[in-house]
Amino acid sequence: MASITSISPSQLKFNKPQVIAPKNLQTTFFSLPIKNPSHSSWGFTGKALTLKKMVITSATTAAEKSKKRYPGEAKGFVEEMRFVAMKLHTKDQAKEGEKEPQEKPVAKWEPAVEGYLKFLVDSKLVYDTLEGIVDKADFPEYAEFRNTGLERSASLAKDLKWFEEQGHTIPEPSTPGLQYAQKLEELSKTDPQAFICHFYNIYFAHSAGGRMIGRKVAEKILNGKELEFYKWESELSQLLQNVREKLNRVAESWTREEKNHCLEETEKSFKYSGDILRLILS
Ligand code: HEM
Repeated sequence: MASITSISPSQLKFNKPQVIAPKNLQTTFFSLPIKNPSHSSWGFTGKALTLKKMVITSATTAAEKSKKRYPGEAKGFVEEMRFVAMKLHTKDQAKEGEKEPQEKPVAKWEPAVEGYLKFLVDSKLVYDTLEGIVDKADFPEYAEFRNTGLERSASLAKDLKWFEEQGHTIPEPSTPGLQYAQKLEELSKTDPQAFICHFYNIYFAHSAGGRMIGRKVAEKILNGKELEFYKWESELSQLLQNVREKLNRVAESWTREEKNHCLEETEKSFKYSGDILRLILS
């Protein structure tokens, strides 16, 4: 059976370290006269020794820095994924966001049940797909992510049934959900690092901004009713922590290039999920 580590690094292109330390290291080494610090004819043996000490200190610092080139790396790969994701938020969505807002902030949304139902239906298709992929586990590592407690498919089924009982017509899945589901199926078979990026972003986004959006929408159009989509059977923070640990373990066997490839996929994850979120306002 194929393995998550079987993707060739040559397929992977994202390789942009964000803090570059070695330059500093070289400048320090090549700019000081310490070739032979004990050479008394230079007339400043003591000073040269001090300089040598300084160089060693600064070389150590530079080496340490070069080890920590990827933000979040020290805490594990999930922290690296989180760092990239947070920067892709707009400034009004999250305080770590760096993008300029282009749409109304969530607090000013004027949702209607029809659009919200489209969002729930497409979200269900995405969760059905993710949950089917980890059950099937084309790559054995996916099996780690079965029954994490974060699954949303069954809770969305209950919510849609409730809306139906209230007399609403449940729409068929629309283009954003169909496209994302197809993309996830493809990636899960051909590109496990990219698939894991989507897996992380979908579940973790829902636990953060997704919940906040759910609360605001419920206040405006559901009389504050909390849907099953926003309830978990045990403590959410613990469920998330368990999945973080599993994700970190899976990524430990990846090369740096494979990790970078995974991080690079974050932007696409925002694009696909953003298209589904926008259905709320359609
Ligand atoms: C209107 C849209 C969105 C809003 C308002 C929003 C808001 C937020 C907020 C407030 C947080 C918590 C920040 C913190 O920990 O201090 C967060 C975290 C996060 N968001 Fe979003 N977000 C939105 C869309 C998205 C999208 C489209 C994605 C990706 C598909 C995404 C991925 C994430 C991730 C991965 C986290 C980190 C969760 C964690 O720390 O465990 N968000 N978001």
